[in-house]
Amino acid sequence: MSGEARLDWTAGAAGPLTGRLAVPGDKSVSHRAVMLGAIAEGTTHVRGFLEGEDTRATARIMARLGVRIETPREGERLIHGVGLHGLRAAAEPLDCGNAGTAMRLLTGLFAGHGLDCTLVGDASLSRRPMRRVIEPLQAMGARIDASADGTPPLRLHGGATLTGIRYMPPVASAQIKSAVLLAGLYADGTTEVTEPVPTRDYTERMLQAFGWPIEFAPGHARVAGGQRLRGIEVEVPADFSSAAFFLVAASIVPGSDLTLQAVGMNPRRTGLLAALRAMGADIVEANARASGGEPVADLRVRHAPLHGIEVPEALVPDMIDEFPALFVAAAAARGRTVVRGAEELRVKESDRLGGMARALRALGAAVEETPDGARIDGGPLHGGEVDSLGDHRLAMSLAVAGQVASGPVAIRDCANVATSFPGFEALARSAGMALAAG
Ligand code: S3P
Repeated sequence: MSGEARLDWTAGAAGPLTGRLAVPGDKSVSHRAVMLGAIAEGTTHVRGFLEGEDTRATARIMARLGVRIETPREGERLIHGVGLHGLRAAAEPLDCGNAGTAMRLLTGLFAGHGLDCTLVGDASLSRRPMRRVIEPLQAMGARIDASADGTPPLRLHGGATLTGIRYMPPVASAQIKSAVLLAGLYADGTTEVTEPVPTRDYTERMLQAFGWPIEFAPGHARVAGGQRLRGIEVEVPADFSSAAFFLVAASIVPGSDLTLQAVGMNPRRTGLLAALRAMGADIVEANARASGGEPVADLRVRHAPLHGIEVPEALVPDMIDEFPALFVAAAAARGRTVVRGAEELRVKESDRLGGMARALRALGAAVEETPDGARIDGGPLHGGEVDSLGDHRLAMSLAVAGQVASGPVAIRDCANVATSFPGFEALARSAGMALAAG
């Protein structure tokens, strides 16, 4: 988060990655559990809550708005819901930190609620596009001001009653879909979202679990206003996006044999698994089961020689957060990997296409950036100095690249790893990765 002490890492060549690991709870599910729990009636008990800066920002904002949230122990929250209309206005700006999910989903929820408030974020979030949620919410009747270029801070003017909308977002984004659906809870009539390509459906699944009538299928969702949510038990699965770094690391470090426990396997999240398998990775699913309404499985990954592929464009939304890790797999693979249709990567926590291309080139990889993707020719990596741009997923991916580099890799600006994966450094070391602060 902005204002935190700067952290640099040095990654070195590792021995094999072995053993069994549990990665932290899913970020998307944790955000939504707090949001819906806050506006439900009764208590919501969340287990497996991600203790990351992003999800804590969402909880802190809800507490500011009058929601009592208890932390009986780490990774657990008891949220005493105030009901659909029970949030209290706050005069001070509400700080979303680094979290795009918090800002976009809360904008929808607060616009629907009619809350008068201002949402702010750190330097990275303050550069990210918000018109994508402002425009459909304005079409529903909300009054929202942003900076001239459509970036935060966002000033929401309360008091308006929204009207349902039929909306087709121009980009495939679960955050846009969710912002519109959450506003739709408060709107007159029905609100319907049809997506260009299906995205993660946690908002829809969780609304249903909280008892709100909703119709949904891949790429489509429909809610009507005027219902109520009732507090529930939420079991958060381990975050596939956090498991991704270990899937790649164990695939590329010779001799590795690592098992990741109870990983969330929602098909809208596991595109990287399909891509890695197409590259020759050896990843076996075991003990597949349902947990808290989500599919989970243990993933056993063993080292295997990878080869380049053309990543199918249809996979892009299902692995949107995993491209930094995929780039590392591609750099360590034999032959060429081609990524297309991934221009959204330019507006994530950093420009992930530019950032990864620059960093991998600094380590000797042949990476050619294109407007919507890259061409990566695998080969040996050497040591060097790289910049994560303050992006958590770049920092962790570059730590993985360091495991196969011939010399030490110095990674700058890694503190934001705490937004999504607190404890990554220690967990990585416990699995056999060579990673140290400094
Ligand atoms: C998220 C949706 C995705 C993803 C982000 C989390 C969510 O963003 O990149 O990390 O929880 O809905 P977009 O909707 O912008 O693709």
